[in-house]
Formats: sequence, structure tokens, C-alpha cells
Amino acid sequence: MNQKFYFECRECGTKINDFNEWFANEQACPSCGKSNVYTVYSTNKEKIKELINKDAKPQSLFHYFDFLPLNNKENVITEGEGIVPIERWAFLEEYALRKYKLNLKIFISRNDKSFATGTFKDKGGALAASVLKEEGVKEYVVVSTGNTATAFAHYLSKAGVSLSVFLPENALNDSVAHIGTYGQKVYSVKGDYARAKVVAADYAKKYNLLITGGNLDPLRLEAKKTQVFEILRVIGKMPDVYIQALSGGTGPFAVEKGIHDLEGTGLVDKLPRFLLAQGDRCAPQAKAWAKAKAEGFPKGYEKEYPIIDNPQPLIPTIATGNPKTYPLMAPLVKRSGGEIFEIKEELALDIARLVAFERVIKIGPASAAALAGLFESLKLGFINDGEVIFVNMGESANRAHEFMFDAAYTTQHVNSVEECERFNRNDYKKQVWEIFENY
Ligand SMILES: Cc1ncc(COP(=O)(O)O)c(C=O)c1O
Ligand SMILES: [Zn+2]
Repeated sequence: MNQKFYFECRECGTKINDFNEWFANEQACPSCGKSNVYTVYSTNKEKIKELINKDAKPQSLFHYFDFLPLNNKENVITEGEGIVPIERWAFLEEYALRKYKLNLKIFISRNDKSFATGTFKDKGGALAASVLKEEGVKEYVVVSTGNTATAFAHYLSKAGVSLSVFLPENALNDSVAHIGTYGQKVYSVKGDYARAKVVAADYAKKYNLLITGGNLDPLRLEAKKTQVFEILRVIGKMPDVYIQALSGGTGPFAVEKGIHDLEGTGLVDKLPRFLLAQGDRCAPQAKAWAKAKAEGFPKGYEKEYPIIDNPQPLIPTIATGNPKTYPLMAPLVKRSGGEIFEIKEELALDIARLVAFERVIKIGPASAAALAGLFESLKLGFINDGEVIFVNMGESANRAHEFMFDAAYTTQHVNSVEECERFNRNDYKKQVWEIFENY
């Protein structure tokens, strides 16, 4: 029996001793066959209070080693992921006050600053690589819309694990390039993300390989739950609202798990309201939610959701057309008092320009979707005066060069100096703000 942690099935309560047993059983509960487990630790929960102390100087995700499913620190593979700046952005707070008369504290989690690949998926990659090293696993399979795949490719390369990556054909070219240059294998599947999942599962079966366990995979949940600990360390309390771009939902599920781990410590007494934004080109969860809400959430509402085949998103990173996690996500959002809603993917460029102008940060399209979630939430009245808002801004523009080219807006083609008027950066301010002032 593993001393530090074990897994407990959330459906039937069965205990699974360790990764050995979990992996041997194809990452499913041996009793009920479901893959919805929580990692349970023998660590004294009070230990978290030391770790989130204001004077703590965390270097990486593994600052929270006592609350991660890894036995031996020697197996840690890290690049300082998981400890990113959480900043208050005054230009957004001033906007909320100016336009909606709301006094808010708006905190932005700067995952663009994550060292390895510039997304919050680095945390899952680092923990997976460390655990696979500890377990002696040498081959692994990932299917992803792009960011998880890139993070896993990065960290698993460092662990010497051969990784086969399955991407839908609309994945961003830059992701494909990153994974390939690490010398990990890219299979670009003709079809959408749902199709890529099928081919990846067949491949894993054919060669008897471990494959990423999806949005509830304890490797990903446990890594990403540390966001809750970081929020407490930096902000000092849970925010009233948590905003994120929603694809499969690992982020919000992980927040729920982090809060669960802190039960009884007095540090957190409620879930934040999850305000989750889906791109309008592929928004099955938002559509299901809107219908359920209009009908007053009838019994069994969470089982009903549309499947969007071959979506044509502008932001492929967050396009999950067959959201199998909706039956768990919708009740979580409902319990939190939150909402799942659509944002216009076309706004991503305007948001990227605004953030680049105001903060001198280049963000990727999925991050723009999260911030669009903030603008939309303000407009729809989902946010109340005096609240603390946390936005999980997921990614940098590292792997979205085409997006950056599209976002650039100042180029003028000239023949001679006569055509060049003297430049003043402030002339652009009105231009980048206009669409939001009229939002
Ligand atoms: C930057 C970014 N934001 C948000 C998401 C959505 O993730 P999830 O819905 O699994 O939490 C992703 C997923 O790839 C992402 O890369
Ligand atoms: Zn079970």
C-alpha cells in the first residue's frame, strides 16, 4: 500500500492503491469501470498553511510536493512551471467602473509567463513527466487540441519518454512545429478533435500504451489544482468569480479538487462562481447550458448536450465539439452559481491588441477567449459590485504566430518619407478601445 496517497473512485468509493494499479487497470476503477477518481493524501492538511505563507518562496509546482501524487523528490522534472505572476490589471478595473459602475478587483493569472511552453498546461506536463519517470514508463500517448500536447512533448522529452501525439488537423501550425522539433511524434489526424481521440485510443490499444486519461486524469487534475493554492498564497482568499476559456474543463475541475483538498482547514468556504467562456464557433456546453437554463434546469438536464462535428473554430485550442465532461461540468457550474456562455471568437484579435497596448504582453487566442469571457460577463450582468475576479489567462502567443501577424495593425507600406507622418503611439489608444467602449 502506497503511504503518501491513493486514489478513490468518486462513483463507487473503491480504493486504488497507486499508479501501478491504476495504470494496470487502464486508468479506470476496477469495480465500476469509470475513470473519475480523486487522489487522497495522508499528508496533514494543515501543512498547506506553511506552503501558502506570504514568506514562502516557491520555485515551481513542486513547492506543493506534499499534495502531489509523487513519492520521491528525485523524480521531479521541472522548469519552474506553476508559479506565475497573478496581477491586478488596472485598465480592466477602470473599464468596469467607467462603463458598468462596478468596483472590482480583477486578478489575471499570467500563464504566458510559464517557462516551458507558456501555458497553464505546463503543470500537467511536469507532473506527468515526473510520475512516468517514477513509474519507469517509457512510452506515452497524448491527444490534445494543442497546448496539452506541446507541454507534454516538452516535459516528456526531458524524461526520456517517447510520446506519440494525436492532433486534429486544425491544430495551430506552431503547436505541430514545437512538438516535432522536440523529436516527439506528431500524428495529424484528418478530422476533428473527436476523431483524433478515436485514432489515439486505437493506437494506444494496438501497441498497449498508456494514454492521457482526459479531463479527469489525476495527473492533470492534481497539477492544475495547485492554482487554488497559488491563489491563496498570492491573493490571500478565494475570489468570488473564476473566469476561464472552457474546452474540456480540466481547469475548473481542478479548482474544485484543490478546494476539496482544503476542506476542514478553514481556508476556503465556497466555490468561486465559475464563469466559463466557449468560442461561438464550437460552443456545445454553452448551448446546452442556455437551453437547460431556459427550461429551468429540468431533471437530467446535464445529460443533454449537442455534439458539434467538424467545427470550424478561429480558436482551435479550445474547440471540444463532443464535450463528454458536460454531465459533470454543468452541475459543478450550477452549484457554484456560475454560467457557461459563448463569446465571439472574432473578438480575439481586438482583445490581443488591447492587452498588447495596455500591458505590453502578447497573448494567444485562447487567452483572448478568457478575457472575452470577462467582457461578456460584465455585459451580461454576471458580476456584482465589490467582487474579486480571477481570470485564468491561459497562454502566451508563443505558438500563434499567424495570430500575432493578424493582430498587428500599424503597418503602412511606403515609398518615401513623404508618406510617413510623424508617429504618436497614443493615437492608437482610441482605436484599440473603441470596440470595448461600445460593447
Ligand atoms: C490556454 C487555454 N485556455 C483554456 C483551455 C481550456 O482548458 P479546459 O477546458 O480543459 O480547462 C485550454 C485547453 O487547451 C487552453 O490551452
Ligand atoms: Zn468505481
